[in-house]
Amino acid sequence: MRRAPPVRVREGARCPECPFCRVGRWDAGAMISRRGLLFASGGVVTAAALTGPGAGASLAAGATPQDDPARREAALIMARRILLTDADHNDLTLDYLKLLTGRTRLKPTDTRDVVVVGAGVSGMVCARLLQAAGHRVRVLEANRSRVGGRVKTFRGEVWQDGRLHAEAGAMRIPSSHLLTLALADHLKVPRRPFDLVDLPPTPDQVSNDSKVTYKSWTGEEFSSGEAPVYVAPKGLGSRFVHVNGQTVSKGAYSADPGPINKSFGWNSNQTTAAAFDKALDTARAYTMVKNPDGTWTDKPIAERVEGMAKLLYDMDGYSLLRYLQEGEGWSDAQIQAVGTLENLTSRLSYGFLHSVFDAGDINPSVTYFEFNAGTDALTEALAKDLHIERGQVVTRVATDDSGVTLTAEPETGPEDEACDGAIGGKATEYRADMVVLAVPFAALRHVDFAPLLPYGKRRAINELKHDTAHKVLLEFTERWWEWDENTWKDKLGTDYRPAPHGDAVAAVGGGCVSDEASRFVYFPSHPSDGGAPGGVVLAAYNWAEDALRFDSLTPADRHTEALEHLTELYGERIRRYVTDRHVSQSWLRNRWALGEAVIETPGQLLSLGPHVATPVAGRLFFAGDHCQPRYHAWISGAIASGTEAAVQLVDAI
Ligand code: ARG
Repeated sequence: MRRAPPVRVREGARCPECPFCRVGRWDAGAMISRRGLLFASGGVVTAAALTGPGAGASLAAGATPQDDPARREAALIMARRILLTDADHNDLTLDYLKLLTGRTRLKPTDTRDVVVVGAGVSGMVCARLLQAAGHRVRVLEANRSRVGGRVKTFRGEVWQDGRLHAEAGAMRIPSSHLLTLALADHLKVPRRPFDLVDLPPTPDQVSNDSKVTYKSWTGEEFSSGEAPVYVAPKGLGSRFVHVNGQTVSKGAYSADPGPINKSFGWNSNQTTAAAFDKALDTARAYTMVKNPDGTWTDKPIAERVEGMAKLLYDMDGYSLLRYLQEGEGWSDAQIQAVGTLENLTSRLSYGFLHSVFDAGDINPSVTYFEFNAGTDALTEALAKDLHIERGQVVTRVATDDSGVTLTAEPETGPEDEACDGAIGGKATEYRADMVVLAVPFAALRHVDFAPLLPYGKRRAINELKHDTAHKVLLEFTERWWEWDENTWKDKLGTDYRPAPHGDAVAAVGGGCVSDEASRFVYFPSHPSDGGAPGGVVLAAYNWAEDALRFDSLTPADRHTEALEHLTELYGERIRRYVTDRHVSQSWLRNRWALGEAVIETPGQLLSLGPHVATPVAGRLFFAGDHCQPRYHAWISGAIASGTEAAVQLVDAI
């Protein structure tokens, strides 16, 4: 086999040997960016021109032989989906906000019998909208014990102190995720700040004033009252960076990043966060304009769609690794340093775009909310007034000219998530006019469809990458992270020993990053509810390859290892407060989730993405965060997709 020649990238130069540079690209006259990425040369091509009859010909002039109209079309479809717009540049975020808060309703139609499969966020949102529009809706859920999907709150007897709760899944809502905030407010589920950075403990925080304001590009505004301008608080910087055998506080790292960077062989005084942020400018420039003060402003919607389509067309094949190496000219040492601290190393082989989106949603300049009573307060509120049959696993979907027959079977055996259950028992048949499949996409791999689903859909079900995520939660009988060193002295008396990495700083929220298996630690943002003296620390939260390292361990071993790493950071003295509850969550081993969320590998957004959410035969509809490429792994993605499926369904009546 002929091997591709090695890629050499020189600043400011095109890389003629790079095989990727020879693939057709969006702009016939595309230029190579300063560091070798394929890059648009400027001239604005309108979306209409791209799909209009003459488009192919004009674009073909001077284009490489590989220029591909089908890929162009896929790029446009996915660009619109990512930006939540359509061919007419309607603002779907605005439409969905109105629908979700009851300001508008779905189109009136004849009543239909609908079965929604899956009582996660997307399924329940869809079911509620359809029910409100007068349709007869039943929801089938495989789990016997709960609804909510990947919203799951560990509460009650899981803990030694039954007053505590902590999240196995969704835990933080960026303040920009307006669909989630508006829906929660509408359902009267109280929310409060979630602190990504460490802050001084204050008396328990008040709920925010629950307002959402959204200004659409159409000029229309959605508002439930004047929402505050969110400004992320500056953290104390007391949490730790622990890499390559060195431990420093985050504050110390920011003040002098050099030594830690050097431990990776990267000679730079930039923080890893600043370096990664800068690396994303290349992707940003496709859809945004940089202002003189360094901030970015969205381009007008038509240009934004076109820019996003170009970005996809040119670079969907790029992994994060390749983007950083070839596009940004980063050395391995820089990739390792930034990747380790910014949670990228486990995802270097995934499509880069997901990391661009995640970086926008997860960084210290973002403010977040959490639901006061736990994230399952949202899913419990969604479940109210719905007809949900639990313990029904759909195994067959048969569509005919007049409707759909679903076969569902209960699950026998213990309910333990990881193993030992088996599907089988008395099957029940459900007949419906239309069905919404709102289960994780990978779960459809185990369902028989008659007739077969279209080829593109089957491929997407079989091949889309489902990432894994893992959480280890440690219960402590006291909230030692809220103590300063003097409190420790008081508590320990003659047993007192100094902390390993400097005096304790009393703080809530925020977390540590480490190159140990635990990777990321998060402390609770609030004293626990119900007056419990203790609290739960998310002692290991990791994704992808990092998560797999934990997935294989037993719950007891996960607990032991996470505690050991936390002890390295905070000292042996924390052990006296830990309980023996082994609470962890592997989303890959959860048999109904089959993974954490879809995170595409290079090329999948364009080759598989357009098939994911498309309805089949006017009877089968698809929902779930996997259907919303901008918000995979977020509640907002599930909400948008559940709403979209409801709209598609009534449009098909
Ligand atoms: N919403 C998730 C969080 O806040 C994001 C998960 C992203 N997952 C991933 N595998 N990259 O943590």
